Amino acid sequence: MSTWTTRAEAPGDIPAIRHINLEAFPTAEEADLVDALRADDSAWIDGLSWIATTPQSAPVGFALITRCHVDDQPALALAPCAVLPGSQRTGAGSAAIRAALDAAKAMGETLVLVLGHADYYPRFGFTPASEFGIRAPFEVPDEAMMALVLDENSTPPAGTIRYPSAFGV
Ligand SMILES: CC(C)(COP(=O)(O)OP(=O)(O)OC[C@H]1O[C@@H](n2cnc3c(N)ncnc32)[C@H](O)[C@@H]1OP(=O)(O)O)[C@@H](O)C(=O)NCCC(=O)NCCS
Repeated sequence: MSTWTTRAEAPGDIPAIRHINLEAFPTAEEADLVDALRADDSAWIDGLSWIATTPQSAPVGFALITRCHVDDQPALALAPCAVLPGSQRTGAGSAAIRAALDAAKAMGETLVLVLGHADYYPRFGFTPASEFGIRAPFEVPDEAMMALVLDENSTPPAGTIRYPSAFGV
């Protein structure tokens, strides 16, 4: 495991973030999604786009959290998460995700939702969203739609997730 440095996205990081997403995914869909979310004031939250860098400050990993809703209650969506292929499985993704989640918690946010690998996200505390009565707005395996309650004193809203329009769902 390498030691990764994390920091919130700065304007100069935008090309590197696009590069990471283009390299990590088979198509440009996720890279385009990140750019569309950044352009959507109702979805983008400054300080919740995080990168993991090498000690030389080269961006390697990325995690983005944006605004979504559960019915009409505000929540957060973690997506996408991406790491340059040559550096995957060395902790960069986890470092970026943990930093983004910590930042969201520090902002007083209470609930994060993620659609993803059921054997990856539980390490951050995510559990099936269905346990909270939270449903995806599309068909998805139950274990892939997960929720993390950031504030244990809060009761997460039950309902259907409404994603920003950039997600196209
Ligand atoms: C998924 C991803 C962000 C994880 O980041 P990472 O830095 O590679 O992962 P970490 O080093 O933090 O954690 C490693 C663990 O992640 C898990 N993991 C990584 N990729 C996984 C995948 N595609 N499916 C399931 N688990 C995965 C493994 O359990 C791995 O543990 P191991 O070392 O025992 O194999 C990264 O691998 C990636 O960019 N993958 C391609 C794009 C993608 O699928 N993104 C997620 C959907 S938005």
